[in-house]
Amino acid sequence: MNRRQIAFSPPDITSLEISEVIRTLESGWITTGPRTKLFEQKIAEYCGTKKAVALNSATACLEASLRFLGVGEGDEVITSVYTYTATASPVCHVGAKLVFVDTDKDSFEMDYDALEQAITEKTKALIAVDLGGVMCDYSRIFEIVDRKRALFHPKNKIQESIGRVAVVADSAHAFGAERKIGGNWKRCGTVADFTSFSFHAVKNLTTAEGGALTWNPIEGFEDEWIYHQFMLYSLHGQSKDALAKSQLGAWEYDILSPAYKCNMTDIMAAIGLKQLERYPGILEKRHEIIERYDRTCDELGVFHVEHYGRDHISSGHLYLARVSGTDEMGRNDVILRMAKKGIVCNVHYKPLAMMSAYKAMGWRIEDFPNAYAYYRNEVTLPLHTKLTHGDVEYVADGLREVIKEICGESGMNCLNGCRSQKSESIMKSCPNERKV
Ligand SMILES: Cc1ncc(COP(=O)(O)O)c(C=O)c1O
Repeated sequence: MNRRQIAFSPPDITSLEISEVIRTLESGWITTGPRTKLFEQKIAEYCGTKKAVALNSATACLEASLRFLGVGEGDEVITSVYTYTATASPVCHVGAKLVFVDTDKDSFEMDYDALEQAITEKTKALIAVDLGGVMCDYSRIFEIVDRKRALFHPKNKIQESIGRVAVVADSAHAFGAERKIGGNWKRCGTVADFTSFSFHAVKNLTTAEGGALTWNPIEGFEDEWIYHQFMLYSLHGQSKDALAKSQLGAWEYDILSPAYKCNMTDIMAAIGLKQLERYPGILEKRHEIIERYDRTCDELGVFHVEHYGRDHISSGHLYLARVSGTDEMGRNDVILRMAKKGIVCNVHYKPLAMMSAYKAMGWRIEDFPNAYAYYRNEVTLPLHTKLTHGDVEYVADGLREVIKEICGESGMNCLNGCRSQKSESIMKSCPNERKV
């Protein structure tokens, strides 16, 4: 096999995006303006919501939704420990108490029973994470928050109108995902009360940095008014944005609150508009790559996330696989062996309770055994639309070779293949070894 270099997730930028960025630079308007507004409109149309707001990151979108809800000191917000810090840090930014729950056994999804138990009189919101592009079980999440209505004490009119713990979706990975809810297919963005998407450089759809927020109608509050609140939030609380101020004689503005600065620029939106035009093709290509990886993993007995099922269609963002029975050392051995073939793999995620900042808050990984068990043998394969057909074959073949090097000919399906393997740590922990 000729050695190739397979990057983990390079951006997929074509001449379409480049020309649109040049047109934007030449247009005389490079910050938030007509292209950002059009991008927001197109995102809303794609998701099937009335409106969307585009900001400079998904992190800003999550924080904006918590601030809009009036979540702050004295409140609690629950989320999964199995995620990236950007899900949790906005809770800290607004001054609320962060509450982590474990994942379900052998799953990267939150343990919904643990979620229900974690809801207290102080809980104002929960953040569900659509990891890898697979939407969470929102039917179950809404049942839980409905059951806990009696515990909910609203602090303001918005919370009063929602009448229960608010459901915020961290859908950084899940733009374009769908899930069957109550018998109907629903697109990500229309399910949770608020949904935040990331357009960071490694995401399915990129604006280099960037994010978008959608929301479901809130009784008693016009969508236009809600949108305006996000505009104020993201641009210094200024009563007029730069475009409105630039109209003849319209210089005067007020500052309504000492707010934040996290608006999207028209240069970013220019990239996003062209990516959005290409997005159905991008999703299709991801689907094809996933099917190819699935075949290899199934053959080798390597567990992998189910991206496409009877009740869900993922956006196919991350290919999470698990080398069952091994530990962190054995997993890292797989990643190193893949690296020697020029294939960059990754891990999603080291649970937040293992990270210094969250450990300093008192979180201990021992309290999250399922998340730890998932993390310890998780390997994420490169999945992106710059991969050629040959690259995909190369990654699949590379994985097959590595697993066979370690486990013998029958891969993870081995009954006694582990006896011949070279990795001590896998040998010690291989469940099949115990069966022999
Ligand atoms: C699960 C998750 N949530 C949120 C974010 C934050 O996205 P952004 O970089 O757009 O703020 C990321 C980014 O990687 C993520 O993986």
